[in-house]
Amino acid sequence: MKTMSATAQASPNIAFIKYWGNRHSALRLPVNGSISMNLANLHTRTTVTFGGVEQDSLHINGLPVSGKGLQRVSAILGLVRQRAGISLAAEVVSENNFPTGAGIASSASGFAALALAASQAAGLNLEQAALSRLARLGSGSASRSIPSGFVEWQMGSGDEDSVAVSIAPPEHWALADCVAVVAAAEKDTGSSEGHDLAPSSPLQAARVADAPRRLEICRRAILERDFTALAEIIEQDSDLMHAVMMTSRPALFYWQPATLSVMAAVRRSRREGQPLAYTIDAGANVHVICPQSHAAQAQQMLSQIPGVQAVLVSPVGGGALILP
Ligand code: DP6
Repeated sequence: MKTMSATAQASPNIAFIKYWGNRHSALRLPVNGSISMNLANLHTRTTVTFGGVEQDSLHINGLPVSGKGLQRVSAILGLVRQRAGISLAAEVVSENNFPTGAGIASSASGFAALALAASQAAGLNLEQAALSRLARLGSGSASRSIPSGFVEWQMGSGDEDSVAVSIAPPEHWALADCVAVVAAAEKDTGSSEGHDLAPSSPLQAARVADAPRRLEICRRAILERDFTALAEIIEQDSDLMHAVMMTSRPALFYWQPATLSVMAAVRRSRREGQPLAYTIDAGANVHVICPQSHAAQAQQMLSQIPGVQAVLVSPVGGGALILP
């Protein structure tokens, strides 16, 4: 039987201005735009092979995935099949070089790599905006792992124009993300359920109303390489999202004691003149952003904090790409 195969690689991204809440959950149309940078040292590699199997199958890091995880992948494969006019089932094999489900968004790199590998395997030659849109339908933050470097996901007016675009290439600003891993276990509530709870917090409306201001400050801080402005806005944006999470019903508390220890250490270092800033996704790990020139020092400082199990350092990364 004829098979069609392709392998793609994508990096996760860390959001500086966060995506939290949808105006349309099935289409993953966000209530606010978001800005992120890709993480060069972390990646997902995914091979999609159409044909040769009876049903869609998925392996992540060597383990078979069924149920909801497989359904979410099959939905993207279905869209690709529809566009390409094929009906072959696919085998999807995916490997991450970082821990899954630890607040280092594996869904972002995972769905970006899937969208690219699947469309390429099916013979579609999608341009970047179409790929970003396809990845978005799998996981909102995945839309930002398609373009390179520093990326903005525009909320758009609908499905067609809610896409991510690069606002600066990786070499524009040598920043690094030092991820202080305080919990490598799977989290209890995933982001998809979290987005649905966001409107139940009375703080979400204020967070969303102020988003254009934060986006503008963040975009400008990146373009002008202004670390002080970046530090202030990303910490405020992360704190706002966590305030919404903590005041949702049911409430979502992602922080662990070590999360607070890292936040305090970052604030203390900044007062002492070190260029460090924290941002936290839907998990307990703390992403500490700094100039690449300070990364070794930051890694050393963070790894001494009790409760920090590892510090993964990554410079700014490129976009999703096809591997030979
Ligand atoms: C806190 O993109 O993981 O990391 O679309 O349901 O897959 P789904 O959600 P997801 O949400 C990311 C939430 C966040 C903030 C961000 O990355 O912008």
